[in-house]
Amino acid sequence: MLRQVPPIRAGNAMESSAKTLTLVTGGAGFIGSHLVEYLRGLGRRVLIIDDLSTGRRRNVEHLLGDGCRLIQARVSEALRGPEAVLAGVGRV
Ligand SMILES: NC(=O)c1ccc[n+]([C@@H]2O[C@H](COP(=O)([O-])OP(=O)(O)OC[C@H]3O[C@@H](n4cnc5c(N)ncnc54)[C@H](O)[C@@H]3O)[C@@H](O)[C@H]2O)c1
Repeated sequence: MLRQVPPIRAGNAMESSAKTLTLVTGGAGFIGSHLVEYLRGLGRRVLIIDDLSTGRRRNVEHLLGDGCRLIQARVSEALRGPEAVLAGVGRV
């Protein structure tokens, strides 16, 4: 059974403030890694969920660290523990 999580606004990630934690699924892939790079360039905090099935850690390695984290997991699995993974996420 899913437990209550704070509301998350899906939509335009570019509208987020610097404090907003943005979840990028598939963020280690071709398109996702460029989106992460763009968001990091704006100073945004980013959480990447990627199972690395086709994406590569090296695509985002240089972006990881303070304010940018990669969780290697399938999205469906990661979302099973909503509080743990989605805590603080304001944008998807
Ligand atoms: N240099 C280039 O021009 C270039 C390079 C790569 C890809 N492409 C093109 O880009 C398009 C594909 O790019 P893309 O970014 O959509 O694909 P992608 O495969 O690069 O990215 C998808 C990401 O989602 C991840 N993923 C898939 N299922 C997942 C799941 N269930 N849970 C978590 N993560 C999951 C993958 O590991 C991957 O990192 C294609 O048209 C491809 O031909 C072009």
